[in-house]
Amino acid sequence: MEPAEAKQRIEKLKAEINQHNYRYYVLDSPEISDAEYDELMRELQGLEAEFPQFLTPDSPTQRVGAAPLEAFGVVEHPLPLLSLGNAFSKEELAAWYRRTLKLTGSQKFDFAGEHKIDGLAVALTYVDGKLTTGATRGDGLRGEDITQNLKTVRSIPLSVRGDFPPRFEVRGEVFLPKAGFEKLNRERAEEGLPLFANPRNAAAGSVRQLDPRITARRPLDIYIYMLGYAEDRATPPTHWETMQYLKSLGFKINPNNQLLKSIEEVEEYYARWVERRESLPYEADGIVVKINQIALQERLGDIGREPRWAVAYKFPAVQGTTVLERIDINVGRTGTLNPVAILKPVAVGGVTIKHAALHNEDDIRRKDIRVGDTVVIQRAGEVIPQVIGPTPDSRERARREKEFSLLDKLPKNDKGRPLCPECGKESIVKPEGEVMYYCSNATCPAQAQQRIEHFASRGAMDIEGIGEAQSVILFNHGLVKNAAELYRLEEKRAELLELENMGEKSVENLLKAINASKERPLARLIFALGIRHIGGETAEILARRFRSIEPLSKASRDELMKIEAIGPKIADSILAFFRQEENHKIIQGLKEAGVRLEEKGKTAEMPLDGKEFVITGRLESFSRQEAEEKIKALGGTAKDGVTKKTSYLVVGADPGGTKLAKANELGTPQIGEKELLRLLEGKAI
Ligand code: IVH
Repeated sequence: MEPAEAKQRIEKLKAEINQHNYRYYVLDSPEISDAEYDELMRELQGLEAEFPQFLTPDSPTQRVGAAPLEAFGVVEHPLPLLSLGNAFSKEELAAWYRRTLKLTGSQKFDFAGEHKIDGLAVALTYVDGKLTTGATRGDGLRGEDITQNLKTVRSIPLSVRGDFPPRFEVRGEVFLPKAGFEKLNRERAEEGLPLFANPRNAAAGSVRQLDPRITARRPLDIYIYMLGYAEDRATPPTHWETMQYLKSLGFKINPNNQLLKSIEEVEEYYARWVERRESLPYEADGIVVKINQIALQERLGDIGREPRWAVAYKFPAVQGTTVLERIDINVGRTGTLNPVAILKPVAVGGVTIKHAALHNEDDIRRKDIRVGDTVVIQRAGEVIPQVIGPTPDSRERARREKEFSLLDKLPKNDKGRPLCPECGKESIVKPEGEVMYYCSNATCPAQAQQRIEHFASRGAMDIEGIGEAQSVILFNHGLVKNAAELYRLEEKRAELLELENMGEKSVENLLKAINASKERPLARLIFALGIRHIGGETAEILARRFRSIEPLSKASRDELMKIEAIGPKIADSILAFFRQEENHKIIQGLKEAGVRLEEKGKTAEMPLDGKEFVITGRLESFSRQEAEEKIKALGGTAKDGVTKKTSYLVVGADPGGTKLAKANELGTPQIGEKELLRLLEGKAI
């Protein structure tokens, strides 16, 4: 392609992808499928790799995360970021209102009611319509520069549309939706990492990562809740209209915000959301009441670090205490044995709680939680609440059950060996260095159903119409025993039609959706297989490296460990997966059904695909490790010794004799640092 043509196509793709991002992440109403979106992104990435001169910082490809930082820079806030005063009761709200009335005199005003989202305050600066800086609140006057991380948040526009001020700042709350928070903690529990206590800590931890690639993996979202300042352009006279205006520029505004005419309407708004807070996809700890008229806001001003024109009216706490009656063990998708707290039913914030998550044996011991204890439970947005720990008096009680042991809870065979509580097999393992116990039986029914559900889920093969309920039905009726059998449902139309809630039309749609999933990119398929410890990110790395399932299934431990980002735990998990006969059968079944098991064509990003490098001596422009990382990032491999398979020996200053001698003996091509640099730029040598 000619540069001029490439430039045009890149511009077109960027505009198109930005629009799809906006529809998906801001409006929540996508127009194209994930697969079509992926296709556009891949085309753009390919072109930008080929024509790097046309790559701009506001390209949607730049959301994946830049290289890690040593430390965050400091941002001075031109206008301080304030915090809010609290009201914990109706009386305290009334007192705030009376104080306000005294100061406003006869001037009429109304209110904006908003949710107080439990996340992290950020200030976003736009110059000439482009996002230039994203900063944390810090101490209100100076925050941290987290621009690179915020760029990975899909609902933050990298550039705005419409009639925008030449320079302006908006403020909002970055948060992790409840579902994302739970998923993150589940993954952390499996990996034995400390859990985040609530979505706010999780959001803060995600946004304040020195490595933006980690942030990029967390499903962060944002709601903009005010305009900080705008230069050289008149902005609307009320907060409410300002929010509508920001919405028109492309910012994401909470649809649950409401214009309220009186303090009674504020009370009603509060009461409504106290009731419904559980149904919200994010964690909110109260409402924020703001005086709507900006001129009045300015007149009221601040006191200390708090504006007089706004107040946080907090929801009642969502902790409760109850008795831990039992600890049961559930079997998860990848065979994890998850301890679950069975509680004496208790109402917490209007919902009756009977079970709570306990994560893993180490966590239970660390918190010293024992059956019979009175425990504090917290609903921090999770569908399943968490056990925080025993209450202090329960710690001191003399007669307590002994320390929790997961193995004690499992059924045993006559030899006293532990059995899986679901399949009854003697299949319990605990890999070295891991905190979780697993059932290693690939045909364990509890796992099989959840694996089908995972296979079809969004981010995996994305088969619309197969969620938890449907996968349970299909599995329990014996119609689908593993993922591959999804693709044989075509032959079972008659049986499908007999299922409850399945008419001609829904069967038709289901089969269509299944068929459409055959062409998903390899990374999604690898993720969909449900290999333990392989998330979307690792699946992509594996897809890029192996380009097909077959070589991945045959890769040795050494080969896997050579890949950046793959450590012994993941390598062993991949090996364990492909050791299971059952999994090969599934892959064979997928192949026979016509599911794509390899990557389509070569991408421009992987110019060193299949090339093996050995480096000897000192390099000038980077350390050896950096050079090796760059080689790997472009699809090549880096080895320590010269063999017949070596593509190039890179010779730096003061090279080692052994490698040179071996290369001379085998006739291995030898290149210098300059040539290596050319190869890394995708050029020929
Ligand atoms: S307005 C001057 N609106 O609450 C007004 N804040 O304690 C200050 N927050 O740091 C902020 N949702 O992080 C406002 N709808 C909302 C909010 C909100 C959450 C947070 C914000 C702020 C803290 C104040």
